[in-house]
Amino acid sequence: MKKKSKSYNLCVSVALRFNFMHIVLVEPEIPPNTGNVARLCAATKTTLHLIEPFGFKLDDTQLKRAGMDYWRHVKWHRWPNWKAFEQKLPAHARLWFVESKGPKLYTQAKFSPDDYLVFGRETAGLPKQLLEHNRERWLRIPMFNEKSRSLNLSNCAALVLFEALRQQGFPSEIH
Ligand SMILES: C[S@@+](CC[C@H](N)C(=O)[O-])C[C@H]1O[C@@H](n2cnc3c(N)ncnc32)[C@H](O)[C@@H]1O
Repeated sequence: MKKKSKSYNLCVSVALRFNFMHIVLVEPEIPPNTGNVARLCAATKTTLHLIEPFGFKLDDTQLKRAGMDYWRHVKWHRWPNWKAFEQKLPAHARLWFVESKGPKLYTQAKFSPDDYLVFGRETAGLPKQLLEHNRERWLRIPMFNEKSRSLNLSNCAALVLFEALRQQGFPSEIH
């Protein structure tokens, strides 16, 4: 068999290695947030997992407007509940739970290319029990005003995803 060149092998390993991050939105309620995250996923080739129940219909015009025509470029999955999602996770899957008051800053995590970044509901956040069971994977984004309870969900998704991609050296960036 003909030997492949070094650059061919490099391209293949880059393609295999990168662009496999996952974002998980647990019971999202506000269409523009999900739309923004879909647009973020399209731009970064991140897989989006949406866990039901949703606070909107998937054909919501606000949802489409926020994600504009990016939806068709997003690889996304819809799950009826957390259990169904969890059962189908690959054995090696590593989940990070992004929620305020976490013991670790999101910048302290060492992200890998196929990690799952999990975000909670706009009104209630992630279930306390889930966070307590996964304390070592519970990440917070720092806040500096005691009057602020939380940050916007889609801002959080962008911050943490880009930190993960930064740690990987922004692989296969198009510019
Ligand atoms: C609007 S917040 C949830 C509501 C919030 N738990 C509360 O106290 O009302 C929606 C989601 O954004 C993310 N989030 C918001 N602020 C965060 C922070 N400071 N650190 C980490 N995640 C945050 C979490 O995933 C959260 O579940």
